[in-house]
Amino acid sequence: MDSIIVQGGKALKGQIHIAGAKNAALTLMPATLLSEEPLTLTNAPRLSDIKTMTQLLQSLGAEVSAMQDGKVQVMSTHGAINTTADYDIVRKMRASNLVLGPLLAREGHAIVSLPGGCAIGARPMDIHTDGLEKMGAEISLKEGYLHAKASGGRLKGAVIDFPFASVGATENIMMAATLAKGTTVINNAAREPEIVDLAKCLRAMGAEIAGDGTSTITVQGVDRLGGATHQVVTDRIELGTYMLAPVFCGGEIECLGGHIDLVGAFAEKLDAAGVDVTQTELGLKVKRRGDRPQAVDVTTEPFPGFPTDLQAQMMAMLCIAEGTSVLEEKIFENRFMHAPELMRMGAEIDVQGGTATVKGVQRLKGAPVMATDLRASVSLILAGLAAEGETRVNRVYHLDRGYEHVEEKLSAVGAQIERVSDS
Ligand code: EPZ
Repeated sequence: MDSIIVQGGKALKGQIHIAGAKNAALTLMPATLLSEEPLTLTNAPRLSDIKTMTQLLQSLGAEVSAMQDGKVQVMSTHGAINTTADYDIVRKMRASNLVLGPLLAREGHAIVSLPGGCAIGARPMDIHTDGLEKMGAEISLKEGYLHAKASGGRLKGAVIDFPFASVGATENIMMAATLAKGTTVINNAAREPEIVDLAKCLRAMGAEIAGDGTSTITVQGVDRLGGATHQVVTDRIELGTYMLAPVFCGGEIECLGGHIDLVGAFAEKLDAAGVDVTQTELGLKVKRRGDRPQAVDVTTEPFPGFPTDLQAQMMAMLCIAEGTSVLEEKIFENRFMHAPELMRMGAEIDVQGGTATVKGVQRLKGAPVMATDLRASVSLILAGLAAEGETRVNRVYHLDRGYEHVEEKLSAVGAQIERVSDS
């Protein structure tokens, strides 16, 4: 296993290229199961989660090829496809459940392993399955696998009211609805940019979708979809992560490809914390106004609210802010595992259920810390940029799921950071 070692205190200067969105690519790739023709994705990120999704699609009989230069993924499915998504692959990555809707729509049946819980919560699939059942699917759970069948061989359009604006359920239902008979309306749909990106790609394939980006999405089913070429939207979570970097150790960074519309609520909080965010021709320029950020309160919400995937990174920044901040995590039930690790570095954090109170300290101290999940891992690296001395983040395989070469991107702008192999 690898570790990443950071020497704190070096001011940052320069530009960081922001990659295509992991959470867009992970729903765009299963979309290829809806069509017999190839789907070409450009600007797809080079991440281990993308490799996992590639393995899953290949196990279903799809042809997936990734050319490293342009980061292009070309996928097409030939003839009959295997409709069983195996536990061994699905348990590694929850997003594997996004093949359920496309398989049901394309083949009329699917057997998909339940992903099981992960570090940040139980993550059930009831919103996905209730919606598909409203569209005429018969779904039963057998030995950890969802067995789904479209009664009469084809899903039917339906009006579906989501109890919560679930991102994955919106994606699964939207994809399933593209080939259903009739019209589907999703009320209380998720509004994330990755949903809009998926709708754009599905329309390019011939789907009839309206309302993406709002809480009500309407899909008019068609008989078949074609191929398309689609550029993956910029990763707003990687963007927000690198926007924070200069706040920890001073300097100024320009995040290439960044756009304020992707990180509105997050940028507002940064402004309140004393950080300048400027839209330039090339991206977003970020610079801390004073010597220390100011404390701000944060509550995570579905888009366009403050994203849960930037909560850990924000908490790390608030650990060195002037004053006391209160963070409320409203999306996942167990997403503060970075707190005890930050406390090893001298942070003062009191966690009570879904609320964390952070009393800012003048300096953090470098320490060996443990990565627990994807976003917690990167928050420890950011904290290392501000800490006195050396911080060693272990188990960085979590990091490689969602961040391309983080040590290369940060050292290119002046951070003293390196990856070492522990084996
Ligand atoms: C997506 O997960 C993202 N993953 C997550 O990013 C992100 O944190 C999350 O959306 C929220 O924005 C991908 O896009 C691959 P949800 P998803 O369905 O779709 C509950 C990262 O770090 N829920 O919106 O699984 C669920 O338990 C990852 O990149 C149900 O109760 O998120 C959770 O508490 C982490 N029943 C909440 O809703 C359901 O059927 C949000 O889940 C579905 C969800």
